[in-house]
Amino acid sequence: MPSTQTSPDLTWFSNAKFGIFVHWGIYAVGQYPESWSFFNHGQPGQDPTDSLPYEDYMAQRHAFLARRYDPAQWAELFAEAGARYAVLTTKHHDGMALWDTAEHYSVVRDTPAGRDLVGPFCEAMRAKSLHTGLYYSHLDWTHPDYPSVTKPGATLGDHVGHRFCYPPAGTPDNPARWENFLRFHRLQLRELCERYAPDLLWFDGDWERTPEQWRFAELRDQLRAWRPGVILNSRMGGYGDYATPEQGIPLRAPEGPWELCLTMNRSWSMATDPSYKTVPELVRTLIECAGMGGNLLLNVAPLGDGKIFYHQADILRAMGAWLKVNGEAIYGTRAGLPAGHWYGPSTLSQDRRTLYLFQLERPWGEVAVKGLRNNIRSATVVGGDGTQLARRVSGGASWANIPGVLWLNVPEAVCQPLGTAIKLDLDSPLDLCTDKGHVITQN
Ligand code: GLC
Repeated sequence: MPSTQTSPDLTWFSNAKFGIFVHWGIYAVGQYPESWSFFNHGQPGQDPTDSLPYEDYMAQRHAFLARRYDPAQWAELFAEAGARYAVLTTKHHDGMALWDTAEHYSVVRDTPAGRDLVGPFCEAMRAKSLHTGLYYSHLDWTHPDYPSVTKPGATLGDHVGHRFCYPPAGTPDNPARWENFLRFHRLQLRELCERYAPDLLWFDGDWERTPEQWRFAELRDQLRAWRPGVILNSRMGGYGDYATPEQGIPLRAPEGPWELCLTMNRSWSMATDPSYKTVPELVRTLIECAGMGGNLLLNVAPLGDGKIFYHQADILRAMGAWLKVNGEAIYGTRAGLPAGHWYGPSTLSQDRRTLYLFQLERPWGEVAVKGLRNNIRSATVVGGDGTQLARRVSGGASWANIPGVLWLNVPEAVCQPLGTAIKLDLDSPLDLCTDKGHVITQN
């Protein structure tokens, strides 16, 4: 990642662990994916029920009323879910801004919603002590100056909303239009920073131009000036503060701070897509992210009127119920044990003296931790009555610095539904043996 000289303080973000992503825009009134449904329209192999012509896509705006939009209710739900921050799509790839922007499409001018939706969101989240994040797509498939690179055969002006102009790698064929687009891009970002003072800017859509064409190095400095301390995700050609794996839990922790963004079903924008992930699966994903030092940003897709679909709300409440009991093992923690010491995820307190081991499957008796050199002061279950778990250390050779195996007895009766956190209080900061084993030369 390029220079991190101007990195802001990421403490709140690293401690938060759980955030809510909100995909909301004119696409919420229909049953078509956000932006991609017009972009992909007519492409070979494209499911016709998943796409629609550009004009029809944009016509959805006439039905975007946001009549029951109540961000205080959203904030209430997100807080109940145990989330610590929320990120709203202020402008997706379709170019429709959710605030009263000076130029191009805006829900204020171009939809019957007729009002700013971003300001009330930020206020409501803050009132519930949630940090605010604003999603913004750099690319804009409806801006007349955006596709300044055209494919051979395309004529200037036929590009809006059409994949035909998807720019090939290379330099813009019309520098003046690209310059104008960049001016507009900066203008919108300045509006977002100065009007709403977000804690986080969640960028997307940087892939159609090089970081040099976007002038991301310059943009990063501008953003820091407009909104000191703002955290930036890395979807600005890498000129950001944290990595954003998407839709699949990483098998190895990305370097530095990171956040997995994930849909509850298969769609970012369609709450009615029926293929929902289960609550146990989502709680497990949250635990696994925390175990590797990352956050989970879980998506909700409010309906066109602003209501959150009941099934999404139920999932959030169920996650909140688990976090209410087990949050100690998640919030504010850092990545736990490396692979090989414990069969499952684990987290570590910041002073490295408390280790939380997650038991995700039914224990059949004793469970084992290997390579731990510390003495254990106490072994309990988070959310339990404080009863000590029976434990023993087996084998090892302390005189040769080879730790034995710590066996813990975890009776089923003390387990928590969805995931049990075993809390080990260590006598000193975590001290692990990670070597490949060696011969003992003195007995
Ligand atoms: C992808 C998609 C976009 C979605 C985003 C969320 O970049 O283009 O539709 O909003 O992921 O991470």
